[in-house]
Amino acid sequence: MSLSIFLLRLVTIPVLLVLSQTTPTGYLLDCGAGGSSRGGATESGLRYVTDEGFITTGNITELEQKDLVPILATLRYFPDSSARKFCYSIPVIKGAKYLVKTTYYYGGFDGGEKPPVFDQIVDGTKWGVVDTTDDYVNGLSSYYEIVVLAMAKSLSVCLARNQNTKSSPFISALEVEYLEDSLYNATDFNKYALRTVARSSFGGDGELIG
Ligand SMILES: *[C@@H]1O[C@H](CO)[C@@H](O)[C@H](O)[C@H]1NC(C)=O
Ligand SMILES: *[C@@H]1O[C@H](CO)[C@@H](O)[C@H](O)[C@H]1NC(C)=O
Repeated sequence: MSLSIFLLRLVTIPVLLVLSQTTPTGYLLDCGAGGSSRGGATESGLRYVTDEGFITTGNITELEQKDLVPILATLRYFPDSSARKFCYSIPVIKGAKYLVKTTYYYGGFDGGEKPPVFDQIVDGTKWGVVDTTDDYVNGLSSYYEIVVLAMAKSLSVCLARNQNTKSSPFISALEVEYLEDSLYNATDFNKYALRTVARSSFGGDGELIG
C-alpha cells in the first residue's frame, strides 16, 4: 500500500463515519409546542419535535379548541410589527432534495375573526402567499408543499409580512423531509424550487389526509 492511498483512507473513513451519524433525514417541527411535542411519529418514522432551537423569534400559544390534532393545537406567531421576516433555520445536506411542508390552522389564536395573510419564503426565494381564510371558514387547516434542492448546510423557511398583512403571521407545523435521489428525478432542479401544492385537511381530530 502506497503512502498516498494510506493517507487517503485515513482521511476518508472518519469523514464517512461522521456523515452517516449526523445525516439528518428531516425534521418535523410542532410549532409553538414549547418544551415537548404531543405529536406522534409519522409513517416515515420521524417524530414531531418542538420548534424551539430552530428559530429565535416569535411567541407561542395554545388554541382553546379541544378536539384538534396535536400538531394544530399549538402555534408560533410573530407579533413584532417592526420586523418583516421571521425565519426558521433547518440543518440539511447540501445538494440533497427536501420536501418542505408548512401547515397553518388559525383557530382565532389572537382573538380575531380572520386569519392573517402573509408570504412564505424558502431559501430566500418567495414561495407564495399564505391565505388560509377560506379553509378556516370551512373548519379546515391548510398546508403547502414544495420540493427544494438544498443550496447550503441549512435551509431557511421564513414567514414575511406583505402589504395585505393586517395581524400577526403564524405557523402550526413545519416539516422538512429528505427525499431519495431517485424521487422527482425527471424534474429539472436547475436552481431549485419545484412545485407548490396547496391542500387542506380537517382541523378536527382524525388523520390528516395526505
Ligand atoms: C411576545 O414575547 C415577547 C418576548 O418574550 C414579549 O415581550 C411580548 O410581550 C410578547 N407578545 C405578546 C403579544 O404576547
Ligand atoms: C435519474 O437521472 C439520472 C441522470 O439524469 C439517470 O442516470 C438515472 O437513471 C435516473 N434515475 C431514475 C431512477 O430515473
